[in-house]
Parts: sequence; C-alpha cells; structure tokens
Amino acid sequence: MDEPKTGRAASKVAAVKPADEGSASRAASPAKELTIFLDGKFVPESEAKVSVFDHGLLYGDGIFEGIRFYNGRVFKLEEHHDRLWDSARSICLDIPMSREAMTEALLETVRRNDLRDGYIRQIVTRGVGNLGLNPAQCKRPSVIIIATSIALYPKEAYESGLTIVTCATRRPGAAVLNPAVKSLNYLNNVMARIEANLAGADEALLLNDAGNVSECTADNIFVIKHGRIFTPPITAGALRGITRSVIFDIAAELGIPISETDITRHDVFIADECFLTGTAAEAIPVIKADGRQIGSGKPGPITTRVIARFRELTRSTGTAIYS
Ligand SMILES: Cc1ncc(COP(=O)(O)O)c(C=O)c1O
Repeated sequence: MDEPKTGRAASKVAAVKPADEGSASRAASPAKELTIFLDGKFVPESEAKVSVFDHGLLYGDGIFEGIRFYNGRVFKLEEHHDRLWDSARSICLDIPMSREAMTEALLETVRRNDLRDGYIRQIVTRGVGNLGLNPAQCKRPSVIIIATSIALYPKEAYESGLTIVTCATRRPGAAVLNPAVKSLNYLNNVMARIEANLAGADEALLLNDAGNVSECTADNIFVIKHGRIFTPPITAGALRGITRSVIFDIAAELGIPISETDITRHDVFIADECFLTGTAAEAIPVIKADGRQIGSGKPGPITTRVIARFRELTRSTGTAIYS
C-alpha cells in the first residue's frame, strides 16, 4: 500500500514511483538501523523477527494501521486506534495491550528513532499457530510498531497530479472480504497496483461488483463537480479513511458542499477536479483517468484549497511525541 517516486515513464511501470520507502535504503546501511517495537521490547531492525508460523505471514491474518506524524505530533492517533480496535473486534482478535500501553509504545518507538516527521506502521498479527488456518491455534497476537520516514510520491506529483486507470480487479463486497477491515490481507489491492504498474499509470481505480467506484489501492477518491465534492460511501467498498474524514471537516469549514454518493467512471471522467486521500499519500490531485483529462488537466482550485488546509492541520494538530 505504501510506495513512493516519479518518472513519467514511457516504459510499462507506474508513472509516479515511490520516492522513499525508508527501510530499503537502510538495509544497506546497518549503522542507521531502526529501533522496532516487537511484543513489548524495543529491538534493532535486524533482530525484529517473527515466526514463520505466525498466521499473519501464513494467512494474512492480522490487522494494521498506517499513521503519520508531522512536526513532532502524531496526526489523528485516536482515530487510527479506534479503527485498529474496530478491525480487531471484527476479526475476533484480542489486541494484547491496552490502548494506553499501545499509545505509549507508539510514541516511544518514534522517540527512540529520533524522528519528528514520518510514518508509523502498527501491526497486530494473529500470532504463532500451526499450519492449519484455524486461529484458535494461535495463542497470542504479536504487536509490531515501525516508525520511519516516508515519501509516497515525489513533491512534483503533488503539483502536477496523478494519472489513474480503472483496473479489472474489483473491490470485494462486504460479504466476501469486508474492505472496512484494515487487515493484512491486501492481495486485492496489490493486484490492482500491479495493473496500474503494467498500464504505466500512477494509481489504479477499483470498482465494486455493481460497477461503481470504490477507491484506489490505498486511497479514497473524491470528485468535484460544479463546486460540490462527492466521494463513494463505505458501502461501495471504500475504507473509512481517516484522511477522508478530515476532508469532510475541511469542506464544512470552508463551506464547500460535500456528500457521499455512488459514483461511476463517467462521473470521474466528467469531473471538474479529482483528488485522492490516504495517510501515506496525504491529499493528492488526479489529472487524468483512463486517458481522459480531468477538468483543465491541472490541479483545480477547490482541490488546491482543500490540500492547503489539510497541510495546515497536519502541521498544527496531533498528539505530542516529545513533551
Ligand atoms: C484500501 C485503502 N483505502 C483508503 C485508505 C486511506 O485511509 P486513511 O486515510 O485512513 O489512511 C487506505 C490507507 O490506509 C487504504 O489502505
């Protein structure tokens, strides 16, 4: 879900590539090893290992959150923890820590890595079991917290906008694999991402079984028409994004009408503006969908205002890491 870099590729790779995935470069530089929280201990990255019998690995059985921190504050921490605990409840996973202890572990992980701006990956796996998939075999979930730097897209992409393509991979319905659960089972998203890469686009647009727009691989989508903002409802297969909620707050503050409504590809094609939101991607304009230019082909005025306000909020609100 998180990647990073740009290069309007003529080749069949995503036009905008990951800018900095953080740990890839560190692997070659052990001196800069991260400190990872793993099951109650802080350990160097090279020693942060989980069992090959962990059902998180064997079956994608577990949950996660991606959280950003800016300027020494964690953005929307409570909201991320609400969703983490909701995901856990939905898949009958008992997080083996209190929320208070989790918060302290998360803040301490950032402190130990001496970071002020970056990204936290918080993972709770089902834990060690046998090779059968029955979670009843797994006695204790594992908790992992990684704090690092991240730049999903290069700065220019936020100014020039992204290209998206509709992919053949559909978002599963709630009765199949509920997209509202932020689980470790992300193969649906990964397959969509591969399609975007093969098409030379920056992101993939996923439809649901009804043919309506759900979201992108790790981002919610918004379209703007005649001064109003629209985004698909959660029932369309969109994750209840934390950044998505912030956009609702910002729209209310700026007096821009916003609503959840089913949208189709047609609505994306004829939109005046379009943008995506996600913790890793933040808020980023889209200027082309399936080869059709959106609006003027440049980030539009409402998108630009909303993104500017979003940036202000990220820099000025949140849970203090260093007090
Ligand atoms: C599938 C999916 N949709 C949307 C989002 C955006 O959600 P949020 O803004 O909470 O990061 C994410 C990222 O977490 C995601 O994985």
